[in-house]
Amino acid sequence: MKQKLKLLVIVLGVALFAALALKSLRVDAQTQTVTAGQKFKNIKVLTDMPADQMGQVMNMMSASLGFNCAGCHAAGDKDFEKDTNDHKLAARKMLEMTFALNKQFFEGKPEVSCNTCHNGRERPVAVPNLLPTAPVERPKQPAVKPLIDDILTKYAASIGTKDSLAKVASRQIKANRIETDGKTIEPEEIWQKGGKFRSELKYADYVVTEVFDGKSAWKRGGNDPIELKASEIDQIKRDAMLFANPDLKSVYAKLDYRFMDRIDGRDVYIVQATTADNQRERLVFDVATGSLVRRIASSMTILGQFQYQVDYSDFKDFGGVKLPATTRFAVPNISWVRKITEVKNVAVDDSKFAQPK
Ligand code: HEC
Ligand code: HEC
Repeated sequence: MKQKLKLLVIVLGVALFAALALKSLRVDAQTQTVTAGQKFKNIKVLTDMPADQMGQVMNMMSASLGFNCAGCHAAGDKDFEKDTNDHKLAARKMLEMTFALNKQFFEGKPEVSCNTCHNGRERPVAVPNLLPTAPVERPKQPAVKPLIDDILTKYAASIGTKDSLAKVASRQIKANRIETDGKTIEPEEIWQKGGKFRSELKYADYVVTEVFDGKSAWKRGGNDPIELKASEIDQIKRDAMLFANPDLKSVYAKLDYRFMDRIDGRDVYIVQATTADNQRERLVFDVATGSLVRRIASSMTILGQFQYQVDYSDFKDFGGVKLPATTRFAVPNISWVRKITEVKNVAVDDSKFAQPK
């Protein structure tokens, strides 16, 4: 039973409540967004929040305080509507205070969030640090602004040569997924062909499948479809389209160089990428190797930006094409790592990328 519960939590967390959304009311086309007040059982403050922000907002509150869900909810079970934990009552007041601050002082914009004060701690620190650490400074900027086309050319060359890329049209990948706890590991299988993508993640006999056929994205848990939010669909698409794709102009409508920064002691170029539907993302390229090492996307919630960060590292040559053998995905409160163990550059039938039935 404990195992089952853990599974549920992992799946819920990962799906950011998409799975939970299934069980409740179905919205027909005419109705407006379902609010948290309509969908959940005991909502007193987040009444008008779109219900599909619930998972994001709960995970943002958890990350801001360094709590897990049980930090505010009935011990570890799924009775989230119960009011038996004092922290939940305190959090309600804090939500009210946060919204009031933004309303009164920031024209209603979500400038102040839980993290502004809590910064990962249960209790904010009011006293200034008496041994302040030096602020991290940006490296000296290049004398001549790098051209985006040069950054993209170097990026393409970092993946493979024209010939080697032309040779590998599709592949089958075996990987391991390491969960937030750093210990739980699930096997994952990936098929990929051009911008098409399918992954099957195996939690024992429960398989979570994600498919992108070049146009639409789907997700399933076992035999049931998992409803996806627009922002989740975007991320599945983008992950699929970026996979060893040397032509980033086919993914983004606009790419602008912003500045040079330093991550983990390495100089990087920061590029702002805008999609055709005007979503902004940040791409980070290693200056020395040309590799894409980070991508940051976000979606808006009532508590401000919910960030999604993907870090690519450990680039290895798999039959003439370089792939990041380690990819770390992170959203507030949840992160997981994909480690590639085997790549076969083989033909993959298009039926793999069809809508799962
Ligand atoms: C800092 C405290 C806090 C943390 C941490 C927290 N929650 Fe909550 N949660 C609340 C509060 C407060 C409400 C009620 C909001 C309201 O009344 O408007 C709530 C409501 C909920 C509800 C709606 C229950 C219902 O039917 O009324 C769900 C589901 C939920 N939380 C899930 C989670 C999950 C899952 C996590 C961990 C990822 C989590 N919460 C972490 C404070 C917290
Ligand atoms: C303007 C600053 C500020 C913001 C914003 C803020 N808090 Fe707090 N919060 C505090 C302070 C200060 C305390 C500690 C009060 C004390 O020590 O008794 C606190 C205490 C708490 C506690 C009780 C902790 C305990 O151990 O008793 C919870 C739970 C909490 N905050 C949750 C939240 C959540 C959730 C949000 C976002 C919705 C939030 N806070 C936003 C300042 C803030």
